[in-house]
Amino acid sequence: MKKFKLALVGATGVVGRTALKVLEEKKLPIDEYSFFASKKSAGSKINFLGKDYIVRELNEHSFDEGFDFAIFSAGGETAKKYAPIAAEHGCIVVDNSSAFRMDNDVPLIVPEVNPEEIKNNHGIIANPNCSTIQAVVALKPLDDKYKIKRIVYSTYQAVSGAGRDGIYDLENGIKNFTESSDINIANSNKYELKKFPYPIFNNCLPQIDVFLDNGYTKEEMKMINETRKILGKPDLAITATTVRVPVLNSHSESINVEFENEFDINELKDLLSKSQDIVLVDDINEEKYPLATSATGQDNVLVGRVRRDYSIKNGLNFWCVADNIRKGAASNAVQIVEKLIEMKS
Ligand code: A2P
Repeated sequence: MKKFKLALVGATGVVGRTALKVLEEKKLPIDEYSFFASKKSAGSKINFLGKDYIVRELNEHSFDEGFDFAIFSAGGETAKKYAPIAAEHGCIVVDNSSAFRMDNDVPLIVPEVNPEEIKNNHGIIANPNCSTIQAVVALKPLDDKYKIKRIVYSTYQAVSGAGRDGIYDLENGIKNFTESSDINIANSNKYELKKFPYPIFNNCLPQIDVFLDNGYTKEEMKMINETRKILGKPDLAITATTVRVPVLNSHSESINVEFENEFDINELKDLLSKSQDIVLVDDINEEKYPLATSATGQDNVLVGRVRRDYSIKNGLNFWCVADNIRKGAASNAVQIVEKLIEMKS
């Protein structure tokens, strides 16, 4: 069997470290790995599959040695600079940043939804935004059967999605509150914030990323535009409100959908429960529904609170939770590499 060579760029970050874990679990036919980060981490050690690797500083020559695949998880600027260099050297890049997602010649892939698009890559494949990935996994089988007319997204997003600095802000907020026992500290700027404009501890911030001219945040427009691209419905009516909440990991989403076709709620639930990588957790009599704490550590998308929206014809509400660092980033990227390997083997 052919063996492959993979580079992981951003190996020391939150997503990078989870990608290492997922790669260890998947045991893909890859026999050479290289790990890159910024100058800051160059020389540090990573233990991977029982072997110590030295993290190397990424530079213009990093891809000279010929990699088959690279997973980039080092932000948009790094991707813009280095992904084209990697692609020129014949390496297929799976990039986690938003740098290339909306480019016409870059496939935006969720393996459960649009794997057929992978073959259209020109050296770069984009991994979608975390909150979009989990939503489209749940929406695709529903769209195939009932034809989606409109979507209203409301998200409750974990701090891990904002990287190490986001986690720091929550942990530091908890620490300061615990040490002072002063309720005011939770609501003030009396301690250092590295990532968010306001304390995330004891708060919900209706701002993820920057505001755009249309009044939406960049995160909201990512959800709207990426959903349209992945589902192949460029004119689909979608609106979104994305909110950062004081949860360490796993994004929760309230999704309201209007369909063109009528549906039977039990058939719809049955369809969800049988769909790839979806776990239906939906038993209100037992108070069972998806939780961030149950989604963390797995690659499935948990769906529950599935119920008719009685305010419109063919309307549905559901609650959708997934590990934003695994399925929302690292696992999705590794699954794309897995598909690429299947195509090349
Ligand atoms: P480093 O650890 O050296 O800063 P997170 O979003 O969790 O903070 O992680 C960002 C990841 O991207 C880290 O692995 C970080 O490496 C890496 N990174 C940031 N800037 C660069 C760069 N210019 N070149 C390579 N890797 C980078």
